Amino acid sequence: NQLEMQLEAIEKGGYEHFMLKEINEQPRSIADCMRGRLDAKNGRLVLGGLRDYMNKFQNAERIIITACGTSWHAGLVAEYLFEEFARIPVEVEYASEFRYRNPVVSEKDFVIAISQSGETADTLAAIELAKSKGATIFGVCNVVGSSIARATHAGSYTHAGPEIGVASTKAFTAQISVLTMMALKLGYQRGTLPESRYIQLLSELETIPGKVEKALKLNDQIEKIAAEYKDSRNFLYLGRGYNFPVALEGALKLKEISYIHAEGYPAAEMKHGPIALIDEEMPVVFIATKDSSYEKVVSNIQEVKARKGKIIAVVTEGDTSVRNLADHVIEIPATEEAFVPLLAVVPLQILSYHIAVMRGCNVDQPRNLAKSVTVE
Ligand code: AGP
Repeated sequence: NQLEMQLEAIEKGGYEHFMLKEINEQPRSIADCMRGRLDAKNGRLVLGGLRDYMNKFQNAERIIITACGTSWHAGLVAEYLFEEFARIPVEVEYASEFRYRNPVVSEKDFVIAISQSGETADTLAAIELAKSKGATIFGVCNVVGSSIARATHAGSYTHAGPEIGVASTKAFTAQISVLTMMALKLGYQRGTLPESRYIQLLSELETIPGKVEKALKLNDQIEKIAAEYKDSRNFLYLGRGYNFPVALEGALKLKEISYIHAEGYPAAEMKHGPIALIDEEMPVVFIATKDSSYEKVVSNIQEVKARKGKIIAVVTEGDTSVRNLADHVIEIPATEEAFVPLLAVVPLQILSYHIAVMRGCNVDQPRNLAKSVTVE
């Protein structure tokens, strides 16, 4: 009715869709997530929920991360973060597989369950299973007081605010923000991350909201790219290292709201199969930021170009090499390699949003999908 429509318009805060509002909220939601926790100037990083469990976390033999969908992608980013900074082996598990596999879990494992809604049935069941085997369970949830938040021993909320769009956007970047803070804290406490480097990383992390703000300014450029590719039947997303999970997330965003088939792959896996798909009809989105795998990704771009694939590349500001190869370059601000996912995912969210709108899809409530999957 009339009143409901007016209320919804107010809730959307002037944006046409919740998804667009939530994408644009990210500078604030990331800052909210870090507020009261990160204070780089004084070299302080405090995660309240972790305090009583820091000992368990620090001495864990293994970290197991369990989640579904986009939250699982955040878990993959965390695998790179924890292993790089804290040198603890990490396994990232789809909750739906983990719960039925009779997995090897013990009191020495520290399990992190990630969930925006805190109501995902498979994730909840994975938690109960790990708990029954004596592991410590830490939740990274957005919804305060949700079932998962209650089922875990401890946790840190993402504080992204309510996410209404079915496609997760600001919850994803907030999850990564929490997991990044956890990894830095853990590395520092374990002595695997030297103090000077720790402080340097904390200061850079504080600049992320401002850099996300900058990435949002790419909207109009990306809208034009979207117009060019909106009728494509397939998309490939490729990235390496920290950007591999970003490729998966970019593909998931596109398929869930635009119904275009999309696949994310680690760029180097391309030659083991997906390269056969490439022809002049195939747009390939590369995340090719200036990092340790940059040169290798550039050669993957050359391989796609040689097969006449269309190249859309997310690059670091000022990049020139990729510009000569790609059909489109999208420049994001430079940051620490470990923090790139927080910036690189933003243009991919915007791209899928515009493509879906141009195809007349219901972006906030895509067909066949629910915001939280409370059945298995
Ligand atoms: C993300 O865009 C999806 N709608 C979906 O994959 C989601 O991330 C997944 O269902 C997990 O939900 P949760 O974070 O609430 O547990």
